[in-house]
Amino acid sequence: MVNNSITVIDNRTGSKFDFPIVQPTIGPKVVDISSFYKNTGMFTFDRGFTSTASCRSRITYIDGEAGKLMYRGYDIGYLATKKTFLDTTYLLLHNKLPNKNQLASFDLELKKRSFINESMKKLFDAFPDNAHPMAILSSAVAALSAFYSDSLDMDTPEEVIEMAHRIIAKIPTIAAFSYRYSNGLPVIYPDLDKGFTENFLYMIRAYPHGHVNLKLIEVEALDTIFTLHADHEQNASTTAVRVVASTQAHPYAAVSSGIGALWGRAHGGANESVIRQLEMIGSVDNVDKFIAKAKDKNDSFRLMGFGHRVYKNFDPRATILKNLRDRLIHELNIDSHLLEIANKIEKIALSDEYFIKRHLYPNIDFYSGLILNALKIPKEMFAVIFVMGRTPGWIAQWIELKEQKDMKIARPRQLYLGPNDRTPKN
Ligand code: CMC
Repeated sequence: MVNNSITVIDNRTGSKFDFPIVQPTIGPKVVDISSFYKNTGMFTFDRGFTSTASCRSRITYIDGEAGKLMYRGYDIGYLATKKTFLDTTYLLLHNKLPNKNQLASFDLELKKRSFINESMKKLFDAFPDNAHPMAILSSAVAALSAFYSDSLDMDTPEEVIEMAHRIIAKIPTIAAFSYRYSNGLPVIYPDLDKGFTENFLYMIRAYPHGHVNLKLIEVEALDTIFTLHADHEQNASTTAVRVVASTQAHPYAAVSSGIGALWGRAHGGANESVIRQLEMIGSVDNVDKFIAKAKDKNDSFRLMGFGHRVYKNFDPRATILKNLRDRLIHELNIDSHLLEIANKIEKIALSDEYFIKRHLYPNIDFYSGLILNALKIPKEMFAVIFVMGRTPGWIAQWIELKEQKDMKIARPRQLYLGPNDRTPKN
């Protein structure tokens, strides 16, 4: 809704340009600058898009100052403690929470699609030993398109929902297979008698014909991690998904690009880096030295799992996971030297002026890294777990973008600072 405008005055000429101010449901107002170049002949410049709303969306709302996160108008605390990841996935896709029957039939639809074409195993075979599961996952998701090449346009709502079910159902299987192959372990097929999250843990841990003992708290912890990662408005990987989707590419390509973007250690790779960093620090006696490195302007070292682009108060997801970590440690009786190091870092960072002044609170990755480590999930699988959680969000964002009739291909401009024409004139 447009209800006001902002005037930009060019100080060189005194020319005035009006730009509409758009009112969101909640959150900061947005200046619509789509006509800026046409009217002023200039581009705007926004390094890392810190002041730019790249799209209109009705899916997720974040108030970074208040530490608030909502999916489709539901507070993350409510979803993470009262609902399951499957409820949340349904909510993201259908804009409403499912009733009992809807949830049961959704679960069944996913189960029916949880197997992958047997010939995809040749793809897994082609990777070298110790390949990172994210490398296998991104390739395998892109490769899925080859198995559904007759339905890549997705012109009908039925085709779209079929694609959504297919990707959400197959990613856990591909993820588990990626792990098993990269470790030379026999693959374990989905167990249709198990719930979504329980089945994933089973595919990671089980051996053929063996019994695997999955504790309720372990399934609950992983399910909560999935829910907390399910969407996060226009973060780097979701933006990657939207940019690829804006070219009319199919969702397998878009999701595969999202996986690539998420892999980086400033984004989804952060929880793996948290554990690697704790291992590198090695002992509580070394913590002070590394805190000093993190604060040193001339040192590029950063404390992994601290800080966030949007949350400048606290990350509500981190608060939920901090409680879950404490419960898990208590119920599973965990006592590790990594936890000791993490506790000391957390304590210092929460009281040190450098971190307080810059709002560098422990983020979701700090606690999810510790929880996944406590669940004995190998660290190279952490980003994969993030992907599994984020997939419903990516799909919901893909669907939303497709439904916006005035959607334009993403094509940012630049501030060119290279040489002017150096071509020899003769
Ligand atoms: N350790 C030490 N100093 C830090 C850290 C850190 N983890 N993060 C930011 N700073 C400092 C930075 O040096 C700068 O200091 P100064 O003002 O003196 O130059 C100031 O804080 C602002 O940093 P920034 O890089 O401008 O902040 P940003 O909003 O661009 O970056 C971030 C956000 C998450 C990339 C960054 O905080 C970071 O690299 N954190 C560590 C990696 C991490 O945990 N990533 C997971 C993010 S949450 C997962 C998700 O939602 O994807």
